[in-house]
Amino acid sequence: MTGVELCARIKLDPRLQLIPVVILTTVADLDARVAGLAAGADDFFAKPFNLLELETRVAVLLRVKSLVDQLDRAEGVITSLGMTIEARDPYTAGHCQRLARHAVALGNALGVDSGLQHHLMLAGFLHDLGKVAVPDAVLLKPGPLDAGELARMRLHPVIGAELVQTLRSLDGVRPIIRHHHERMDGSGYPDGLEGAAIPLGARIMAVVDVYDALRTARPYKSPMPHAAAIDVLRRETDKGAWDPHVLAAFIALALSPPAPVSLLSPAAAVPPPNSAPSRAPPADPVAPALPVERDDPDDDVRALSCEATRAMSLSCVSD
Ligand SMILES: [Fe+2]
Repeated sequence: MTGVELCARIKLDPRLQLIPVVILTTVADLDARVAGLAAGADDFFAKPFNLLELETRVAVLLRVKSLVDQLDRAEGVITSLGMTIEARDPYTAGHCQRLARHAVALGNALGVDSGLQHHLMLAGFLHDLGKVAVPDAVLLKPGPLDAGELARMRLHPVIGAELVQTLRSLDGVRPIIRHHHERMDGSGYPDGLEGAAIPLGARIMAVVDVYDALRTARPYKSPMPHAAAIDVLRRETDKGAWDPHVLAAFIALALSPPAPVSLLSPAAAVPPPNSAPSRAPPADPVAPALPVERDDPDDDVRALSCEATRAMSLSCVSD
């Protein structure tokens, strides 16, 4: 293996790619230099090289790496904070990890760049960060929210975006946090954006968020089978809620073997231990659709998913 090949392998490995690589070589022609830099090398020195220049360059690269590591740790703290919100509600166990995984897979299927995929991963953990300002009495309320409680819950995308306002590394994540409850027809919140005005990352997050809500158990509803959840999303999309292009990619992703992620068997279909028992039997992927408990689940499919969404303490425009 040549040095250039080794460099390329390091830079293609997500676990190693931020390690600075300097290539030292006896080949000084332009093609070799271009090949090294194309492989991801951070610098290229031809022998004989000036030792002081090399030391200076390595010191600069290590300083940059240190700053990147600090940023990485800051993101770790922020994502941990997001998970503390999830931890307040035992019924949402694993929600953040699943959303991060599914959103990245869906973004990849849609061909979004690696930058947006990274933002989707972080947004999976941070999208409901603003719920830190929602009291437990509202967040964990098993029944319907009154108007005041609903208004308070619907502030969480704005509060979440404001909490990360000063973190420049989250510039690409902030719009996903703020707009993950927008709807294509403009009936969402907080800004009532329509169609393509809703950031693509937020449209992706909305689909995986609602799907996960439908697929998970809550104290007053059973987890919905995959096919039934997809059916709800389809009907809501027909009514103008979700991006049809995003939903089509999501459905294809779930059906394509081997799928990058398993969308068919979310762990959260099983209620967490020591939690209140579900009133309905556990999910059955081949069983007929289990309606959310309401008088007439077909009269308003938007309310159907919103019922599930509310169940996981995600507020919904038609609650
Ligand atoms: Fe939310």
